[in-house]
Amino acid sequence: MNWVKVLSKQELEGADFIRMVKADGKKICLIKHKDKFYATQNTCPHAGGILSGGWCKNGHLICPLHRYEYNLETGRGAEGQGDYIDIYPLEERQDGLYIGLKESIWKRWFS
Ligand code: FES
Repeated sequence: MNWVKVLSKQELEGADFIRMVKADGKKICLIKHKDKFYATQNTCPHAGGILSGGWCKNGHLICPLHRYEYNLETGRGAEGQGDYIDIYPLEERQDGLYIGLKESIWKRWFS
């Protein structure tokens, strides 16, 4: 697992948000919802909506395009959708928030 810093210690404080961050060249939807952090893929599996342009409701991330809903903890789509989004592990450390990404086999070979 490759841990990449996505927020500084100062940015951990403050209001809830949804924003796109880049980690290891990958676009991630980073969310602070009710004082808890979540990281998901940034592209909606339904038709490519940008999830970081969406909003949260009752523990779900809502895609702004067609309002499909995804559970923030598990990534599961709402009943009847039959899809899911990737959820990434997060770790709060002394100097900020880190996201855990699986190492690409290509990157390992060529670095
Ligand atoms: S693209 Fe996200 S719900 Fe359709």
